[in-house]
Amino acid sequence: MSNGIKIHKVGIIMNGVTGRMGTNQHYIRSILAIIKQGGVKVGDTEVIMPDPILVGRSEIKLQKLAAMGQNIRYTTDLDAALADPQNIIYFDSQTTSRRADGVKKAIAAGKHVYCEKPTAVSTEKAYELYQIAKKAGVKHGVVQDKLWLPGLVKLQTLIKEGFFGEILSVRGEFGYWVFEGNTGVTPQRPSWNYRKEDDGGIIVDMLCHWRYVIANIFGNIKSLTCLGATHIKERIDEAGKPYKCTADDSAYATFELDNGVICHFNSSWDVRVRRDDVLTIQVDGTKGSAVAGLRDCVCQHASATPRCVWNPDIDSPVKYADGWNRVPDYQEFDNAFKIQWELFLRHVVKDEPFRWGLLEGAKGVQLAELGIASWDKRAWVDVPELQA
Ligand SMILES: NC(=O)c1ccc[n+]([C@@H]2O[C@H](COP(=O)([O-])OP(=O)(O)OC[C@H]3O[C@@H](n4cnc5c(N)ncnc54)[C@H](O)[C@@H]3O)[C@@H](O)[C@H]2O)c1
Repeated sequence: MSNGIKIHKVGIIMNGVTGRMGTNQHYIRSILAIIKQGGVKVGDTEVIMPDPILVGRSEIKLQKLAAMGQNIRYTTDLDAALADPQNIIYFDSQTTSRRADGVKKAIAAGKHVYCEKPTAVSTEKAYELYQIAKKAGVKHGVVQDKLWLPGLVKLQTLIKEGFFGEILSVRGEFGYWVFEGNTGVTPQRPSWNYRKEDDGGIIVDMLCHWRYVIANIFGNIKSLTCLGATHIKERIDEAGKPYKCTADDSAYATFELDNGVICHFNSSWDVRVRRDDVLTIQVDGTKGSAVAGLRDCVCQHASATPRCVWNPDIDSPVKYADGWNRVPDYQEFDNAFKIQWELFLRHVVKDEPFRWGLLEGAKGVQLAELGIASWDKRAWVDVPELQA
């Protein structure tokens, strides 16, 4: 209690916090931002206040991160952090191959767990994590950040309004050029992403996302085909050394939903962006269409649809881009990772519902695994249900 306000101090072990996602999205933009805003308000007189302990191998890196806030704890001793009953949540954003062991150990220590996707490197292991967490009775969550992107929230608003009529198809275009490292421009992604032996690959990375995006917004996936490719064969690593790319860097996947909607998603780290954003999702329905990016969403109603005809002999009389209206910002949008963190903290402390757990995480891993199986077999594959 302080000034009549009840403060729930929540010790959070942050493992993998020195990495790209751990530092930027989870520590700086989520946990530090929540601390700086005075915690998560859960009523007029109650606040949840995160109390992170940063875990990693490099004391210097941890020290630097801790200095960004006030009285931020850090340690290189994960076991000691797990043994401290004050830490009730374990968060993991380590490289994918280390996740399952980290999460298992935390559940065995009685912690609630929240982690990045993919939750494991196989469906079997990912589903096992769900079962272990369920049996232990701990609360669990998996990052599904795209659901809270402003552009996708606007898309969901249009669906709720019935704007599309019957939805026919969805086209997702994700990607940008990731520099190879041989021209003096620093690559934007870690080198393990391009090595299969380190659990890299765009199918594993992105199909996890497409699973929850499609399931939450458009419907249940019945079957899929996926073709992967490793277009760039050699890149330069963090130490300046060339390495062979052994993992897929592009994926061309088609998903058939139970409700008949067809979704096609291209994912690539070897494309240059000439669209509104690094991710665009176009939805076409009988009564209207929309294209969502990360923050914006534009739409075109059936009544404003131009009558396009094929005529390459003249300049187009239709200015295609002009026929779309921007969906207004009906609300303020916070960082998507932070929104989900706040929901998880409320789930842990106030027992509020939270449906983005390890089962959903396992479904993401399953879609990625089936995508690779489809590519191997050059065939359509069905998506079996994972039992709750
Ligand atoms: N939600 C999203 O949109 C999104 C986006 C990118 C990555 N990810 C996922 O987040 C995870 C981290 O990705 P990243 O891009 O931050 O990677 P990164 O390589 O930048 O960070 C990995 C972290 O793991 C730690 N680590 C690696 N090897 C270790 C070892 N042997 N012992 C102890 N710690 C070790 C590193 O120190 C670092 O803190 C991956 O699983 C990735 O798939 C999610």
